[in-house]
Amino acid sequence: MISSLLFLAALPCALAAGANNTTSATALRILPVGASVTFGVGSSTGNSYRLDLRTTLVSAGHEVNYVGRHRNGNFTDNQVEATSGFVLSQIAEAARTATPMFLPNLVLIEAGTNNCNSGKLVPDAGANLTALINDIFTASPGVTVVAATLLANKVAAQDACRVDVNKQYQAMATSLEGQNKKFVLVDMRSPEGPTTSDLFDSRHPNDRGYVKMATVWGAGIKTAVEKGFIGAPKDNGTPLNGESKGSTGSTSPVGASAAMSSMSVVTAGAGEAMGASVVWTLIPAVVLAAVWTGW
Ligand SMILES: *[C@@H]1O[C@H](CO)[C@@H](O)[C@H](O)[C@H]1NC(C)=O
Ligand SMILES: *[C@@H]1O[C@H](CO)[C@@H](O)[C@H](O)[C@H]1NC(C)=O
Ligand SMILES: *[C@@H]1O[C@H](CO)[C@@H](O)[C@H](O)[C@H]1NC(C)=O
Ligand SMILES: *[C@@H]1O[C@H](CO)[C@@H](O)[C@H](O)[C@H]1NC(C)=O
Repeated sequence: MISSLLFLAALPCALAAGANNTTSATALRILPVGASVTFGVGSSTGNSYRLDLRTTLVSAGHEVNYVGRHRNGNFTDNQVEATSGFVLSQIAEAARTATPMFLPNLVLIEAGTNNCNSGKLVPDAGANLTALINDIFTASPGVTVVAATLLANKVAAQDACRVDVNKQYQAMATSLEGQNKKFVLVDMRSPEGPTTSDLFDSRHPNDRGYVKMATVWGAGIKTAVEKGFIGAPKDNGTPLNGESKGSTGSTSPVGASAAMSSMSVVTAGAGEAMGASVVWTLIPAVVLAAVWTGW
């Protein structure tokens, strides 16, 4: 009698947590890979789609930690693996280096926009992105990859090239899905994606466009979760929540010394306190330690 009462009392709680997915959702260690759009050019905060997407994922119950060797944006968890101007081969090289360093369980890729800058077609874009994605599957076992089609562009010849690349990416998606890979392609030209009226210039989204990108990525990640693709991130000392105070933010590569990790703890905290996301990386650890102990 008593035990069944306890059971009845506990039941609504369990159901509520499940419905909300606040306790059951898998933590996401996300490596955002790309060029200037992923970095955040045209975004007034430099946040790109990354902060809006993070907010969506957190409301769906996920802990989130963005990882990558660069930072941009006015939020703590602003790591990114993106460099303005990079073409596909450079993005691929960066991703091949960063993936084994961080062991993400989710990689987001937007690559190939800059290959279209000359307006000439890029017939090997799909093949090369496929090769990169397969290397990512090997470098971080169990990882899910979500790739995006190329955004609308105001310059006609460049846009025609992008449309052609997107056809290659659609074919790639069909092939990867046929092999049961943990892969989702999101379409940045779907009705939810940014149009040429959501651009800051001829090619980079404005803040409104970045919000739309976040919506499209979010739907793709939800699909991946619902398909059961996403497993827990590998325990390599990286915090599950990249916004938690004192988190390293995962800028240290795997295998970094204890001394280096504790320095990262200090820099993450101090950077937050000073409201500076970049400058502090240049300040000696000793000074930062003084700052840290001072508050
Ligand atoms: C969902 O979670 C929020 C806080 O995380 C809580 O206030 C709310 O009651 C939950 N709703 C359901 C249906 O579980
Ligand atoms: C909760 O998450 C699971 C997968 O983890 C999903 O299938 C389910 O639809 C989600 N439920 C809600 C209410 O969002
Ligand atoms: C980021 O910048 C925006 C726009 O300037 C501002 O509204 C927001 O408060 C800033 N956020 C942080 C955490 O500094
Ligand atoms: C595709 O990969 C090949 C082999 O690495 C390289 O020669 C070619 O330049 C790449 N093309 C693009 C568009 O990245």
